[in-house]
Amino acid sequence: MDITQEKLISLLNMDLELEYAAAIQYINHAAVMTGAAYGDIIKELKIHATEEVQHAMTLADQIDFLGGSPSVSIGEIKTSDNNDEMLQQDLDGEEGAITRYKIRIEQAEALKEFALAQQLRNILAVEQEHAMDLKQALGK
Ligand SMILES: [Fe+2]
Ligand SMILES: [Fe+2]
Repeated sequence: MDITQEKLISLLNMDLELEYAAAIQYINHAAVMTGAAYGDIIKELKIHATEEVQHAMTLADQIDFLGGSPSVSIGEIKTSDNNDEMLQQDLDGEEGAITRYKIRIEQAEALKEFALAQQLRNILAVEQEHAMDLKQALGK
């Protein structure tokens, strides 16, 4: 199916909801994670949370620019009482985001929305850094 402006707005709103969820999930995980060995990654998770909020702001602005209504719903949030399980939940989220943004960049370019594609590339680069931080903390 060919991408349309309307379909792209709807997909960007799903991305936005997942950015809100990622920000909340990182705030939660950074707060409940314990143990001296996790001190460095806890600091990273707090940085990730602020970067996810920046992604949400960028997406909301782009959705508005495209003539859509930015969603105020929040995607699914996962947590655990186990540190490594939380880090795996975060990594799963990042890997999903990387897959989605690669597709979204192609869809934006198909509609000649090159400025949007540029913003999505910037977000993608940050999600890849997030995934690398999490893999390192998980010893992967
Ligand atoms: Fe993000
Ligand atoms: Fe991320």
